[in-house]
Amino acid sequence: MRLLLACVCLLLGGQALADGLEAGKSIYEQTCIACHGPDGKGAIPGIEQLTEKGALAKSDETLFASIKDGSHSSGAAISMPAKGGNPSLTDGDIEAVLAFIRQRFGSQ
Ligand code: HEC
Repeated sequence: MRLLLACVCLLLGGQALADGLEAGKSIYEQTCIACHGPDGKGAIPGIEQLTEKGALAKSDETLFASIKDGSHSSGAAISMPAKGGNPSLTDGDIEAVLAFIRQRFGSQ
């Protein structure tokens, strides 16, 4: 019985993670892709790359804050607007899109 419960929990947990990544993907495609491009390497000259050696080397806390509040530190001609310019994004949405970015672009 315990084993069965553990299996069910694992399954549900895996599903929740998959749902989060799916949500993060759709947020990325709606709100972020115009500036960051389909591969995270940027659609704007000088923009910080969302790669392991680029911005993703920073901690989740730092990146969460940058997405939530916006940022301007690199040589990019424009700044990152708070929440990518979409004020309706919740903290959960930001976590979901960050998880998606790490999963999708983290190995490049
Ligand atoms: C209008 C263009 C634009 C949009 C839309 C945009 N970004 Fe950015 N983003 C930038 C620029 C420019 C930078 C580099 C900012 C800097 O120099 O610090 C950046 C930087 C970042 C960074 C690195 C932050 C750091 O601390 O190094 C992350 C992560 C990021 N963006 C994620 C996102 C996500 C997620 C979205 C969608 C919710 C998004 N961006 C939407 C322009 C944009």
